[in-house]
Amino acid sequence: MSQLDKFKRFTVTSALPYANGPLHIGHLAGAYLPADIFVRYLRLKKRDVVYICGSDEHGAAITIKAKKENTTPQAIIDKYHQQIKQSFEEFGIAFDIYHRTSSPIHHDLSQEFFLNLYEKDEFVEKYSEQYFDEDFQQFLADRYIVGTCPNCSNPNAYGDQCENCGTSLNPTDLINPVSTLSGKPPVLKPTKHWYLPLDKYQPWLEKWIDEKEGEWKVNVFGQCKSWLKSGLQPRSMTRDLDWGIDVPLEEAKGKKLYVWMDAPIGYISATKQWAIDHNKDWTLYWKKQKKAEDDTCLIHFIGKDNIVFHCIIFPAILRAHGEYVLPQNVPANEFLNLEGDKLSTSRNHAVWLHEYLEEFPGKQDELRYVLTSILPETSDSEFTWRDYQARVNNELVAILGNFVNRVMILVHKFFDGKVESEGKVELYDAGLTIELDRFYEEIERNLETYKFRQGLQAVMDIARLGNKYLTEKEPWKTIKTNPDDARLALHNCLVLIGHLAIYLQPFLPAAAKKIFHMLNWDDVHFGFDKDVKFKPGHRLNPAELLFEKVEDAVIEAQIDKLNSKKQAAAPAVQVQAAKENINYESFATMDIRIGTILEAEKVAKTKKLVKLTIDTGIDKRTVVSGIAEHYEPEAIIGRKVSILVNLEPREIKGIVSQGMILMAEDSSGKLSFVSPADDLHNGSVVR
Ligand code: MF3
Ligand code: ZN
Repeated sequence: MSQLDKFKRFTVTSALPYANGPLHIGHLAGAYLPADIFVRYLRLKKRDVVYICGSDEHGAAITIKAKKENTTPQAIIDKYHQQIKQSFEEFGIAFDIYHRTSSPIHHDLSQEFFLNLYEKDEFVEKYSEQYFDEDFQQFLADRYIVGTCPNCSNPNAYGDQCENCGTSLNPTDLINPVSTLSGKPPVLKPTKHWYLPLDKYQPWLEKWIDEKEGEWKVNVFGQCKSWLKSGLQPRSMTRDLDWGIDVPLEEAKGKKLYVWMDAPIGYISATKQWAIDHNKDWTLYWKKQKKAEDDTCLIHFIGKDNIVFHCIIFPAILRAHGEYVLPQNVPANEFLNLEGDKLSTSRNHAVWLHEYLEEFPGKQDELRYVLTSILPETSDSEFTWRDYQARVNNELVAILGNFVNRVMILVHKFFDGKVESEGKVELYDAGLTIELDRFYEEIERNLETYKFRQGLQAVMDIARLGNKYLTEKEPWKTIKTNPDDARLALHNCLVLIGHLAIYLQPFLPAAAKKIFHMLNWDDVHFGFDKDVKFKPGHRLNPAELLFEKVEDAVIEAQIDKLNSKKQAAAPAVQVQAAKENINYESFATMDIRIGTILEAEKVAKTKKLVKLTIDTGIDKRTVVSGIAEHYEPEAIIGRKVSILVNLEPREIKGIVSQGMILMAEDSSGKLSFVSPADDLHNGSVVR
């Protein structure tokens, strides 16, 4: 029936978060909430599934944070691993294991992987020149070198990026480089590294990814195609670092594995640990079986910035090893924004999970509900506190809570809290049954195709149906004129509530539990079936309030908090003076439309230029845009933009550019797309 039915078991992973800071709502909405809903759904279907996650504890993300906090990498990972783990638990993210990449079992497995590939001669060994600190006798990672930015002359640019102008750099681009360890100029020294020849895997990857067309999400498939189109390069799997997993070769003393080699292997080592703890066979969840139809269905939930690692590099590693299954799907989400701005740790523009838990105790389901309603499934989306308030008040309280509460109160009032079903246990009303069947199909189809927003709406439709039915039947009136009618109507409502609770489980586990308790069903095992029955004479527990209204003052306090945090963290903004007035006619000569980016690639030998193919609704055309320092070409495919379509064509670097993409520039020089918030069709007129 469904496309998932053919699999015997499932291995579901969520991206391992770096243990270098607390989690915010963007994390939850990206890789965790969707996966948790999916896994809970599979479990209710009684499918064999293991759900894996853990902390990513290597890489520059950790050492930089340690430096900033003036402590050791070990102290950083210990601190944040605990905090992150706890936040996940409190939000009900139901991993089978939350592991760590600093564990010995993970170090062993990563080294085993490296050696396996090494012994098969899969690596290409290459020397390159890299900066070396002679006092400290070590090679310098990008972030340990500062110098003057060749682009904007900022004297404190890092080896990989200038934070003033945003340009991405190589250490050798810096003018007057200095080591942050000794404070002295570093010297260039040849160093040997082991490269995975991704170019060699390109034909195989192309074929494999082409087979995913139509099955993988458009944004994921498009990004993969774009990486492949620009040609894969060998990528070094080793680094000159002092924090990470040792490269298991005599001649590689002091070198570490590239964090993006070890981290995805973390999914496997975590599964191994889980199998040890639960007496299971981990190989069933990772290795190819004798018959292909016995293979596990591997699904990676991630954010869009991780697509290349999960769809290209890790599959190439798995393939080079040979014994492992490849991902069946990688349902990556886009990004969540907050109150009109990007979520940002450095600017402290975020809703932190540990703070929410403190300020909204017991209200995890409210946040789960709001985030699921706005998941960035196909494009970036936005969280605002006003929207949070509206969704809680107008949907959770007014639709779901209200239905359940009204029925509970009426059954207690008229029938002393007892279900009077006169021996008949089916849903009596044929109309309701037909509608319910439609909801089932819709819920399951959406969940199995990673459309969690729509799945949740279909569940809410059960509550909407219930409210409509209750209003039509008016049992509070018919109880006097036709008590049988009232009894039947309330019985049907209870059956609907039973269905509602069952389907709410993946989305709002705590609310579902509360409803089960009200129905006095705590001891029933709730699978995902349609068999909702009450024994005649079954007694309900007292009604409890499911959700509370969010008051204006609460929301305003949150908005104020965000604004004050932002002001504290932000550099002073300088707003340009206004230009001279123009008349309406000069404005009206501009033809600005909404379009979609179909393709994006960097223009060779330039720093700033990207060649875009835009669907303007009128036609498909090429535009050259100076945004390369602000956006990765792969990440903007599928994005809606505003475009001036009647600008005279111009030749730029041999490419004819037909139009101009509208960009907003802030006082720091950062460019952002001027994109509509809604799904406007291409060709829509901006005026
Ligand atoms: N730590 C990475 C990030 O936050 C994600 C790692 S996913 C894994 O972007 F596959 F490498 F584990
Ligand atoms: Zn700069």
